[in-house]
Amino acid sequence: MTEAAAIANANVALAKYWGKRDEALNLPYTGSISINLAGLTTTARVRFTDKRGEDRVIMSGRQVDGLEATRVRKFLDVVRQLAGRNCGAEVEVASNFPVAAGLASSASTFAALAVAATHAAGIILSEQELSRLARRGSGSAARSIHGGYVEWLRGEAADGSDSYAVQLAPPEHWPLGIVAAITDRGRKRVGSREGMAHSLTHSPFFPPWLETHQADLETIRQGILGRDLRATGSAAEHNCLKMHAVALAASPPLLYWNAATLAVMHRVIQLREEGMDAYFTIDAGPQVKVICSLPQREAIAAAIQAVPGVHDVLLSEPGAGARLVEGA
Ligand code: DP6
Repeated sequence: MTEAAAIANANVALAKYWGKRDEALNLPYTGSISINLAGLTTTARVRFTDKRGEDRVIMSGRQVDGLEATRVRKFLDVVRQLAGRNCGAEVEVASNFPVAAGLASSASTFAALAVAATHAAGIILSEQELSRLARRGSGSAARSIHGGYVEWLRGEAADGSDSYAVQLAPPEHWPLGIVAAITDRGRKRVGSREGMAHSLTHSPFFPPWLETHQADLETIRQGILGRDLRATGSAAEHNCLKMHAVALAASPPLLYWNAATLAVMHRVIQLREEGMDAYFTIDAGPQVKVICSLPQREAIAAAIQAVPGVHDVLLSEPGAGARLVEGA
């Protein structure tokens, strides 16, 4: 097989990955827990050619060079090394949601690429191996290999062999609702990669972030297993605010929120006061994801859509893991 296509969904972290102990291998300081987002999907197609030479990388319909293409090429190098092949590739990646604005497009991109590129190269990996491989492209991609509720294990080994994601529970374990509020359609100014590196070296709050993270992981894991929205949601909000506190306290500071981000956060708190089960979380960008009970999702989405500055809302629920769509 020299050509294959795969799809993978984005994911939203309830306990965040923020800080690497190894930048080259994307090894995190902490574990993290996420929900796979149904319908927020990236498709990746990889074709290995007979010619050596440069890889051609097309993203959202246009050929890219520079940093974006380098990241994909380096990732393909890992696959080529695994397969013992040394040939050029043509890669096409497209997502059906706003890219690089804090909706974790790198997660779905590298999870889809891991599945497509290995099949195109003729190697079959287990889910654990795929997760480890996807991690090399983007840390959060390790989690998008699996469906439902997912935990990325920090691991201890220096070579990253024990740092991969596992499924905590399948999507049907707990049909939650997720509403993503788009408050800015542009690309984010400081990506997660730079943001977490800067936080690590320039924020006095980085050590306490590490010290308190384990407790959040445990609360969120138990909350998911026990389908306890209040416990899970409160801990996710707390963990999100701590991550942003680390970034805000860096010098110079990193402020990912805009006015609408903050307005949505207030609206979610207000919705809770009105008796709704809704909790927010925010990644390295201005968009807000609201975790809520599925029957209340439409009403909550309508309330969020009405917040001034919100361009759009996307509705999701726990989705399936990365999978091959062509080239089996
Ligand atoms: C804030 O996985 O995008 O979304 O490993 O450098 O590619 P790289 O970073 P990335 O970081 C995601 C950070 C986050 C939190 C999370 O998803 O856990």
